[in-house]
Amino acid sequence: MKIAMAASEAAPFVKTGGLGDVMQALPEALSKLPDNEVCLFLPYYGQIKRDNRWDCEFLTSFAIQLAWRQCHVGLFRLKSKKKKLQIYFVDNEQYFDRNPIYGHLDDGERFAYFSKAVLACLNYLDFRPDLIQCNDWQTALIPVVLHGEFRGSFPYTKTVFTIHNIEYQGWANSNFNYDVLGLPPSFNETLRYGDASNFMKAAIVTADAVSTVSETYARELQYPYYSHGMSEVLIQRAGTFYGITNGIDTTVFDPAKSPNLPFHYTAKTMVEEKAKNKEKLQEELGLNKDPSAPLYVIVSRLAGHKGIDLLCYICHTLMSRPVQLAIVGTGEAQYEQALSSLAWQYPGRMVVRLAFDPGLADRMYAGADAYLMPSRSEPCGLSQLIAMHYGTIPVVHATGGLQDTVWPYNPTTGEGRGFTFQSYNGEDFLAAIDRSLGLYYDDRPAWNKLAQNDMAVDVSWQSPAQSYMEMFKKVTGIS
Ligand code: GLC
Repeated sequence: MKIAMAASEAAPFVKTGGLGDVMQALPEALSKLPDNEVCLFLPYYGQIKRDNRWDCEFLTSFAIQLAWRQCHVGLFRLKSKKKKLQIYFVDNEQYFDRNPIYGHLDDGERFAYFSKAVLACLNYLDFRPDLIQCNDWQTALIPVVLHGEFRGSFPYTKTVFTIHNIEYQGWANSNFNYDVLGLPPSFNETLRYGDASNFMKAAIVTADAVSTVSETYARELQYPYYSHGMSEVLIQRAGTFYGITNGIDTTVFDPAKSPNLPFHYTAKTMVEEKAKNKEKLQEELGLNKDPSAPLYVIVSRLAGHKGIDLLCYICHTLMSRPVQLAIVGTGEAQYEQALSSLAWQYPGRMVVRLAFDPGLADRMYAGADAYLMPSRSEPCGLSQLIAMHYGTIPVVHATGGLQDTVWPYNPTTGEGRGFTFQSYNGEDFLAAIDRSLGLYYDDRPAWNKLAQNDMAVDVSWQSPAQSYMEMFKKVTGIS
């Protein structure tokens, strides 16, 4: 199958969150399946352009029309030996030479431009995909522009729109089509949501299929509590709305090989080697070098929906237990301040690093005993998968992808993968942590066994990539 993919970020070029990890691994996994040919489109952000790790060749430049204005499109391709996976960059310095990559007043225009440019580039390349897969609001207009402007060039191309996070939808004012996008006026209604324009809504009603990143989140999104206003449009898509749980790139996240780790390990050597990693990590973070204190960690954006409010609420009680707690991430000022102030009250036992540091994150996964993830909602979540793959036991709120991937530990049978709580409140979160502490202190062999079982779980992209292909086959009718 010929598959084109588009996203606003992909590691290792540029990444602000889980979407970047997915767009690094999924195109690669799909391109390895027989008979597939994959290309991925990304904006040519200034930081990618200036990074001399990436050798790109210039292919062409032309202009596209955005309502009344002409916009420059430069098309570059990453030089690569991978025949079945091509990575293309769309160049326009006015739109993409920005730092940070999101959060500008004209984000709507920037990504509307990108969505149009991707189709124009496919047309130039004469790559007629059987299917275009697009991701989140930044590329949500691709199915819409395909219908409104490019149908003649791509008469048979189908589209799948994947939701990684429903909270960010791409809102714009009601004149957006007239002012910026420039599709025929009949598309005003496709874009309209209330008295504004909404990119995500337009994709949900236009794409041939919609998907999200876990089965439970797909169910949850049909309820107003989770859907941020999208439940009704999603319910109408029920027959063509899929949930496919993400994987992780196990060549990037590999405790046996990662260059970020002082000590490598496999399930066999985990007990001793993790202890060494823990000691090093305690040293790096300025925690007491105490091998007996279970080390709980969080690597996360410090945002409300990640459950940081629950953590702040239980923190003093949690720190009355014999534990250590380390948090790495950046985010909302209220949480950065609250956590920093809490850490200051527990020197040597609790630490907060306000940083986005993938190397340190890797050492946290390797050196910790347990990983906390109390997200209020979680489309899929990758951290719990990385944690399990590193033999670090997850303690999670049973929601979205967390519910699908972290099965509760059953002390009688030894089955399960971690500790979970059902209802979103601090007491239940604490109770789940206490259950994990009980196992850590009372039955260390069972704890180690649980960690080893977690390491054996297949969290790679192999099986999710198959599921994507099954969905793509249904959508295109190609077998
Ligand atoms: C978003 C979601 C996260 C998901 C990731 C990749 O960041 O919040 O749950 O794992 O996208 O799909």
